[in-house]
Amino acid sequence: MHRILVTGALGQIGSELVAALRQRLDADRIIASDLRTGPAGQGPYVHVDCAQPYEILEAVRRYEIGTIYHLAALLSAVAEEKPQVAWSVNMGGLYNVLEVARQYGCQVFFPSSIGAFGPSTPRDRTPQVTIQRPTTMYGVTKVAGELLCDYYAARFGVDTRGLRLPGLISHVAPPGGGTTDYAVEIFHQAVRYKHYTCFLAPETRLDMMYMPDAIRALIEIMEADPSRLRYRNAYNVTAMSFTPAELADAIRAHIPSFAIDYHVDPVRQSIADSWPRSLDDRAAREDWGWVPRFDIKAMTADMLAQTTEKLWMPKGA
Ligand SMILES: NC(=O)c1ccc[n+]([C@@H]2O[C@H](COP(=O)([O-])OP(=O)(O)OC[C@H]3O[C@@H](n4cnc5c(N)ncnc54)[C@H](O)[C@@H]3O)[C@@H](O)[C@H]2O)c1
Repeated sequence: MHRILVTGALGQIGSELVAALRQRLDADRIIASDLRTGPAGQGPYVHVDCAQPYEILEAVRRYEIGTIYHLAALLSAVAEEKPQVAWSVNMGGLYNVLEVARQYGCQVFFPSSIGAFGPSTPRDRTPQVTIQRPTTMYGVTKVAGELLCDYYAARFGVDTRGLRLPGLISHVAPPGGGTTDYAVEIFHQAVRYKHYTCFLAPETRLDMMYMPDAIRALIEIMEADPSRLRYRNAYNVTAMSFTPAELADAIRAHIPSFAIDYHVDPVRQSIADSWPRSLDDRAAREDWGWVPRFDIKAMTADMLAQTTEKLWMPKGA
């Protein structure tokens, strides 16, 4: 039985994906990996720097890997700070993963992003196939990554599958330096201080998704019937679209005294202004049955409940 390798497994998505896969399948079949030092004793963990081809090769050979969820990357705001490193990690890492997948017949998941679009893309109901001319290094690596996945699928028959993920909201691991991180931070600040200073302007509308939906989407597309997949680069997926002001209103329905003010970060604001306001995810719905379960109301209620519970949990629990 082949095993599953998750790269970047200690990040915001990886920590929840590994847990979900271990619950779904035999836990020993899921090999978590990251650049950082891993947790001791919670299932197989291996250090893999994706920028080093032989480290991926070694892990795939040693653990007889059949599927790679390739999550390791620098996120949008960090990538704008260090564009050269972002190119080498995001593009070099994906290239190394695809090369090993080609040689060892692995299936590959690649997480693209709403960052793969740019200011010349239609911003509302952004189509599955449209103009992709991003103005950030993050976006450049996501478009190029999508094309590379398409190429390896068409040229070498590698079973590549991907999603254009919107901003992800979760309460398990902290976000890794993206433009939509405000939608996670706001909950922690709301529960602790009933106040949040937002780095995006109040009317900045972006697509978002609650992590349980995202994890389900990752697993569902990897388990989908390959003959039904029209796109091997990445599918648009979304669950909700809101502004910081609207999210503050949703939180106020639970914490009436919650206050928000704004101190706009020009770098992240300009990134957000170049992204779609909402995606058209009909292709994902038609090809592999994608349906989100959490809207802004359900996500807000659950995030507040989970964040409050964590705040009052005794340390070390
Ligand atoms: N979180 C989001 O909102 C979001 C939205 C769209 C797409 N994505 C994509 O999903 C993927 C995972 O995102 P995330 O939010 O979990 O990111 P994250 O920053 O939380 O985690 C990324 C992980 O990759 C690891 N990493 C960095 N360089 C590495 C290297 N050279 N080798 C191995 N590991 C390395 C980091 O240590 C980190 O644990 C990324 O490709 C990201 O672009 C995320």
